[in-house]
Amino acid sequence: MSKGTTSEIVLRNLGKTKIKITPIGQGVMQFAGGTTFMKFVYPALTDKESNSIVKTALDGGINWFDTAEAYGFGLSEEKLSKGLQAAGIEDEEVVIATKWMPMMRRAESIRKTIANRLKHLHPYSIDLHQIHMPYSLSSFQKQFDAMADIFEEGHIKSIGISNFSAKQMRKAHEILEEKDLVLASNQVNYSLIKRNIESNGVLDAAKELGITIISWSPLQSGILSGKFHKDKEMFKNQPAVRRLRSRNQIKESQNLIDVLENIAANHKATITQVALNWLVNFHGKIVVAIPGATKANQAESNSRAMRIQLSKNELKEIDEKSRQFI
Ligand SMILES: NC(=O)c1ccc[n+]([C@@H]2O[C@H](COP(=O)([O-])OP(=O)(O)OC[C@H]3O[C@@H](n4cnc5c(N)ncnc54)[C@H](OP(=O)(O)O)[C@@H]3O)[C@@H](O)[C@H]2O)c1
Repeated sequence: MSKGTTSEIVLRNLGKTKIKITPIGQGVMQFAGGTTFMKFVYPALTDKESNSIVKTALDGGINWFDTAEAYGFGLSEEKLSKGLQAAGIEDEEVVIATKWMPMMRRAESIRKTIANRLKHLHPYSIDLHQIHMPYSLSSFQKQFDAMADIFEEGHIKSIGISNFSAKQMRKAHEILEEKDLVLASNQVNYSLIKRNIESNGVLDAAKELGITIISWSPLQSGILSGKFHKDKEMFKNQPAVRRLRSRNQIKESQNLIDVLENIAANHKATITQVALNWLVNFHGKIVVAIPGATKANQAESNSRAMRIQLSKNELKEIDEKSRQFI
């Protein structure tokens, strides 16, 4: 992407908090590659490689990163911290989102594990702490009581959720509102080929309550780069987990990829950049995205997606061509 349709990066508020974030953040789940269940999806990255992804994202204007306890049980957080330190970044210059893993755990574990999160991320603080999924053994009330406690104690600067339905989101908002706190965000799988939040009430609830939607897998694990449509061999060589998840999506999205490619050419951009730009602009400022990367050049390219300016007609055309995925 070069001249022509570039635009400045405008920061957005994370929900109704005062935290300012770029429309695109950097997902760093890939930093746990080679370990735990991640080894079935992503290879291990050396510190040199992960440091380079962090530095490149920052150089591209990205000001925030998304990690989680579940990504290698501290490994992704630790490698993120190493990358930020290597880039000479101070705590107040970056926004960090991490998550508590609720599976088979009670709410007390939120309090018990916060020291670990901070240890792995040291010297950086947690701007957003998210409940990774709505599957704790404890009630929502107890989980948000615990989140509120660690917020009041100053361990985290805002509270979010992930993979919550519209109903669960409204409940979380209600519990926090009673405590005079805000629910900042709901992180869900949202992409041009997975648009169900537009029909299941999640997006409507977010708009109504001022909750930011953080789109995970905004490229649907790389499918929306168009690289697998072009190179079937490359797809065949992907780990089984990725192949099984994506097989049908590749066939079903060929027409959309063609449209994205035409629009990308108008902007001297890539399919990926157009797909990401649509996601963070079509619904105003409510959606932000956190593409992951296994290589620094992907982080560089993805950060540039913030600088394209798609016309209203282009946004509409992409919408029309992907409505089958709502
Ligand atoms: N809350 C949750 O439950 C949840 C679940 C999943 C992910 N997440 C978060 O969301 C982030 C993103 O999700 P994701 O990594 O699953 O999906 P994604 O962002 O849709 O896809 C990332 C993958 O796409 C490929 N890619 C990225 N940029 C590219 C480019 N410019 N050109 C070509 N290929 C490119 C890379 O794959 P290659 O391996 O082919 O290089 C990369 O590993 C994660 O890092 C994590 O922070 C959250």
